Amino acid sequence: MNDITNKVAYITGGSKGIGFGIAKILLNNGMRVAISSRSLEVAKKAAAVLSDDPTKILAIASDVSSMADEMNAVKKTTAHFGQFDVLVANAGVGHFAPIDEMTEANWKATIDTNLTGVFNSVKASIDPLKKSRGYIITIASLAGANFFETAAAYNASKFGLVGFSQAIMLDLRKYGIKVSTIMPGSVASYFNNHQPNDADAWKIQPEDIGQLVADLLHMNPRTLPSKIEVRPSMPAGK
Ligand SMILES: NC(=O)c1ccc[n+]([C@@H]2O[C@H](COP(=O)([O-])OP(=O)(O)OC[C@H]3O[C@@H](n4cnc5c(N)ncnc54)[C@H](OP(=O)(O)O)[C@@H]3O)[C@@H](O)[C@H]2O)c1
Repeated sequence: MNDITNKVAYITGGSKGIGFGIAKILLNNGMRVAISSRSLEVAKKAAAVLSDDPTKILAIASDVSSMADEMNAVKKTTAHFGQFDVLVANAGVGHFAPIDEMTEANWKATIDTNLTGVFNSVKASIDPLKKSRGYIITIASLAGANFFETAAAYNASKFGLVGFSQAIMLDLRKYGIKVSTIMPGSVASYFNNHQPNDADAWKIQPEDIGQLVADLLHMNPRTLPSKIEVRPSMPAGK
């Protein structure tokens, strides 16, 4: 098993939901973690819940749709912890409407966050990851393989992200950088203004995606699970 103790991960959008669950599990596995939000106050609040040890946790304000923000976030993470081993490109939004009702603003927000946002965080991380022979994990979706009504923007962003992730996996493995994309089904998070509640028990929980990320990082470096679909084991509501 690969030893991940003290390794450093930067998780985009770690203030709540899946990113927060991943941060929790990586900290439990002895890693050090930077989480981002568009708001420093929100990132700091989430970081305080995760750990009171500043040598383990760092809160960063960054909008993934800004290359300058992401460059700054990776620099801050590396300077704070002295190394940079893992990027989890998780930040994402969902705007759902039939195409005749979809606004240009919501189309742009979806593509700029879910697709260009991952491009920005990956570009910002490549140099330090070459040094550490590190790992990029992108959080795509089953909506990156299955289309549905009202999801033109979301489907386009996630189909694009799955393709992007697979292509960079081939580009980067010669540097010892591993790339995996995780494609979750329904997760009990705050996605699309949802409030997690008791009726979400059948869904994947954010910590389960965290455990999957930890399992990938623990994998013997000679082996690379590059694309992982993950879904609730029971039908919706069961
Ligand atoms: N929930 C599901 O069923 C599901 C299924 C498959 C895939 N996913 C994917 O999982 C990822 C995480 O979503 P979630 O379910 O955890 O949703 P969530 O609970 O709404 O959390 C979204 C996170 O992304 C951050 N974020 C949004 N826009 C951002 C931006 N421009 N820059 C930086 N951070 C940004 C949010 O931070 P702030 O709001 O604090 O800025 C928050 O931390 C997304 O990529 C989503 O598409 C979710």
